[in-house]
Amino acid sequence: MDINDLRNEIDKIDKEIVALFERRMAVSKDIGQYKKSKGLPLYDQEREQNALQSRIEMLGNKQFEPYLKQLFTTLMELSKGYQFQTTSEKNIVLIGIMGSGKSSKGRLLASRLGMHYVDVDDEIEKEQGMSISDIFAKKGSFEFRKLESNRIEEISKKKRHVISTGGGVVLSDSNMNRLKENAIVVFLNRDIDEIVRTIDIANRPLLEAAGASKLYEIFKDRLPLYRKWCDIEITEENKSVEDSVNEIIKRVFLV
Ligand code: S3P
Repeated sequence: MDINDLRNEIDKIDKEIVALFERRMAVSKDIGQYKKSKGLPLYDQEREQNALQSRIEMLGNKQFEPYLKQLFTTLMELSKGYQFQTTSEKNIVLIGIMGSGKSSKGRLLASRLGMHYVDVDDEIEKEQGMSISDIFAKKGSFEFRKLESNRIEEISKKKRHVISTGGGVVLSDSNMNRLKENAIVVFLNRDIDEIVRTIDIANRPLLEAAGASKLYEIFKDRLPLYRKWCDIEITEENKSVEDSVNEIIKRVFLV
């Protein structure tokens, strides 16, 4: 066989996979609706583990086990993302101190669940055509908070988005009330010592003059606010971005 024959063969197989994928997603939607109508969580850990195990047992060639595991883990995740989006219009909002990984985890979370992603600070920078640091330096913190509230007002009207916020979003009740109208709010409580050790203070105007240790003070003031506004708190000592996102996915679908 030459490469073209092999590619034709793959194309034929993929055609079948696409048809099966569509069927699977359609059934998955019905399951989501059933769960919603019965008030059941979208995530059933035991069922998922058993399903994964049984797929592995079906394998003829055991060499493929790690690949199959990854394939079905992804399929089940996409399925939950789709169920979430077809049974709820809710956003998932990430809050937490600077350096807790709201942007990196938000982006990954959105792509894993097939959701849209938006970062409030990025939107402010785009709208103003300058960096957050320059906004603080040229317009001041009061003006920044106004711009932030304006963007939040707009962004909180979105549906089915993962939204990463700036660390100070919780300072305003109206920001949080707006966001909470249509969201599950997740507080990323990454270990503060770890953040202070590793944070890059560039484009963090609140730290640029005082240094990273200023974060201890900010964190102490804001911790009660993060806890007040969140639906889920993820404690993240020494977790990788991947591990945190796995945990967020589990917890969000248990709500
Ligand atoms: C701020 C955090 C920043 C940014 C601005 C103010 C804060 O966002 O919004 O510098 O008050 O904690 P990150 O938390 O994404 O760094």
